[in-house]
Amino acid sequence: MTRDKPEGATAEPAAPDLSWVPRAAAIAREAGARLREFFAAGVETEYKGDVDLVTVADRTVEKLIRGRLGEAFPEHGIYGEEGTRERLEGEYRWYVDPLDGTTNFAHGFPQFCVSMGLEHRPIGIKADDDGALVAAVIYDPTRDELYTAELGRGAKLNGRPIHVSRAAELAEALLATGFPSRKRHSSPNVHFYQEFTLRSHGVRRAGSAALDLAYVAAGRLDAFWEFNLNPWDTAAGILLVTEAGGRVTSFAGEPYRLDSREILASNGLIHGELTQLFEDMFAGRNLAPIPTPEEFARARAARER
Ligand code: IPD
Ligand code: CA
Ligand code: CA
Repeated sequence: MTRDKPEGATAEPAAPDLSWVPRAAAIAREAGARLREFFAAGVETEYKGDVDLVTVADRTVEKLIRGRLGEAFPEHGIYGEEGTRERLEGEYRWYVDPLDGTTNFAHGFPQFCVSMGLEHRPIGIKADDDGALVAAVIYDPTRDELYTAELGRGAKLNGRPIHVSRAAELAEALLATGFPSRKRHSSPNVHFYQEFTLRSHGVRRAGSAALDLAYVAAGRLDAFWEFNLNPWDTAAGILLVTEAGGRVTSFAGEPYRLDSREILASNGLIHGELTQLFEDMFAGRNLAPIPTPEEFARARAARER
């Protein structure tokens, strides 16, 4: 199991303050309780663009989290999806998605969460450089599942340690991805969706990137990829995956950066197969023919021998 600093974290990690996660978890639980109330009552939907939805729940819960984080950690910065930009010059910065899975939420589809990831940015770090992710909290209020991680101290689900899966081959993997809600006509992801679906046990599109990452950390999914996510979607999930023993990189296997336009997270074991498939697809070469059902059965039998 790797317990190294996350790939892409260029700064030296800070020793975690053991109060970060419990205090952030209490805030995420309170935020999740508010989401449950809004979800039960039903909310009106507005459009931020294309099919990018926002509701009163997104805004109210970001305001709640902003206030609570400000009380708990008055020195820490906050960078939230619904516009919060506070104390960004500070040494610590929370990336907050108050409601990841808004489209699901607005339709009554119970797959959404609160996501909060803490980055340590040592004094003097360049504005464009990543610090080290040091604490993560993702809360799924519909299942009462709380995912937490501290740098160097592992990842947990409801207080119990979690670990990425042991699937050793793409052909035996369950994957997940997502599709953008802006400029969706220009996204190439449907092609990757097709290829990965035909080469694995399947690809889920459940609609919450933060939960997808948490599920990779918990071994419920073997890998996840998506184009064009933002740090509020990924910061907490990245630390969960790396602390659970997995890998997070670009599609080419390069160190992940928080402003990256692509994320590939996996259990580590199938990472090489995934980056190879991305490379081949981008280059339009060496793609194996799509297996027939008979070929699929023969390959499975060969693996079982
Ligand atoms: C979205 C979800 C979704 C992903 C989209 C994100 P939001 O976040 O994470 O799974 O596919 O790219 O924008 O808008 O619900 O916070
Ligand atoms: Ca999001
Ligand atoms: Ca959101």
